[in-house]
Amino acid sequence: TPGKVLVFGSLNIDLVCRVERIARPGETVLGPSYEQLFGGKGANQAVAAARSAASGISVRMIGAVGPDDFGTAIIANLEANGIDAGSILRTQEPTGAAFIAIDSGGENAITVASGANRVLGADALVGAQLSERTILLLQMESPLDETIAAARRAQEVGGRTILNLAPVPANLTAESLRKLTEAIEWLIVNELELDAAARALDLKAGSITDLASTVGQALDVNVIATLGANGVVTITKDGESFIEPAMSVAIEDTTGAGDTFCGVFAASLAAKLEIHLAVRRATTAASLACRRTGAQTAMPTFEEITAALNAPLP
Ligand code: RIB
Ligand code: NA
Repeated sequence: TPGKVLVFGSLNIDLVCRVERIARPGETVLGPSYEQLFGGKGANQAVAAARSAASGISVRMIGAVGPDDFGTAIIANLEANGIDAGSILRTQEPTGAAFIAIDSGGENAITVASGANRVLGADALVGAQLSERTILLLQMESPLDETIAAARRAQEVGGRTILNLAPVPANLTAESLRKLTEAIEWLIVNELELDAAARALDLKAGSITDLASTVGQALDVNVIATLGANGVVTITKDGESFIEPAMSVAIEDTTGAGDTFCGVFAASLAAKLEIHLAVRRATTAASLACRRTGAQTAMPTFEEITAALNAPLP
């Protein structure tokens, strides 16, 4: 029996503005216009999982939105993507919003107004039917203690747990990182997040692979480090280590590439793919997701990932 992906996390409306270059503190830059898109790391990862999942794999999202039109639109968008949104809370806080600037090189700077995401609690998991089939996917845009509690609940019933350490808090301590990862099987980080984790744990910098493996040992987790164009490093607790190269694509916007990786990886675990293949599908999907503006806009389907794996783009 296939697993079920359960995403516990944030939902935002993204307001995206393209600029020549990202403003420095105190500076104003002008962009031509803006787009309103669906975002939030949790929702993005749920969409990536749903879109990329083999048939028979369900995706459910637990999160909180506001009483406003943004909240209504977000729930409709989840449902349009085939995600069970039945447990999304409608709170009195405004729906989360992200203000995103993208420069001409496709790099971004994001400010998130958390709003309703701040009141999400692990109790929202009641009714989510956690079981040993659950693949729980977590990020860092929800309250820390609730995220920790959610991981515990999933692990208690024999479910699998994945934490994407994004966005990494500025004040990350060894203690909070250990607590956060206590019930986590897979830790997914980008280069900055890996660095922050290593610094919190007071580990000395070395090559990325060394860093990922010392962080993994210190926290007793499997580590996946996504390195953009440099591909993906995977280090398992059993000492297996491999590098998956990124697919080369014309980069339009990298927003959501990490989310795509996480969602596709979770869906691949749900399909019981072995780790190399799960990482390969997720890496390919993340590359494909950089080809259009927006996080969810360019996330590929199951068939698109398979096609890209079989016949790499020129
Ligand atoms: O990871 C990208 C996401 O981060 C955006 O969709 C935005 O909402 C922020 O949460
Ligand atoms: Na994109």
